[in-house]
Amino acid sequence: MSVSIKSAREIELMREAGRILANVHEELGKALKPGMSTMDIDRLGEKLIRGYGCIPSFKNYNGYPASICVSVNDEVVHGIPNKHRILHEGDIVSLDAGVIYHGYHSDAARTHAIGKISPEAEKLIQVTRECFFEGIKYAKAGNHLNDISSAIQAYAESFGYGVVRDLVGHGIGEHLHEDPEVPNFAQKKKGIKLVPGMTLAVEPMINAGRADVAWMDDDWTVVTDDGTLSAHYENTILITEGEPEILSL
Ligand code: MF3
Ligand code: CO
Repeated sequence: MSVSIKSAREIELMREAGRILANVHEELGKALKPGMSTMDIDRLGEKLIRGYGCIPSFKNYNGYPASICVSVNDEVVHGIPNKHRILHEGDIVSLDAGVIYHGYHSDAARTHAIGKISPEAEKLIQVTRECFFEGIKYAKAGNHLNDISSAIQAYAESFGYGVVRDLVGHGIGEHLHEDPEVPNFAQKKKGIKLVPGMTLAVEPMINAGRADVAWMDDDWTVVTDDGTLSAHYENTILITEGEPEILSL
């Protein structure tokens, strides 16, 4: 396993990739409304990404057919956009997007409400976002990877939520997925020591019910096994000498 340390020039490119991706998410979030199809979101997302001079990194990645992963309600991640899948008031929708800017990746996800949603759904979205911020409190040089993982799990479970085990965050840079893996749950080993210049995609995937997930017949869409709602929140971060820099916010 080798974890790359980014140079000043690489960090500059990843900052720009992250800045662009943050804008894409903001614009996608504003565009969401009942009656839209998940395919409409993908079309708009791809147009925005290309409009910024970037490449949508998910498109054709291991055969994934779209630019934006759109996962509705009990879908955890990797939902495939479909023109027949219409968003309705009360749904929650997780959007995951990745961009490549001058050869460097940024990866981020947000879960949004469609119109008015239940207080339970509202809480799940909020806590999932907070899980990310709890985790990155420990994303400091000298700490270990498992400090992040453990903090995310402890926070999520304090609300009775299930932390998805089958998918994890990851290093990121010249590639969408680099070492190390960044689990959202505690490991037996403390993991690598964090060093300035490491760039990580930290991405809690949190279920309202149990942690177990299943794969749909399309071989992509991951759903909660018990049918409960799931939320996702992800940013690309940079380890520094002090506080982590959140590149995609
Ligand atoms: N954010 C996800 C990840 O980090 C999405 C990539 S899956 C893709 O792994 F295949 F759609 F690209
Ligand atoms: Co990711």
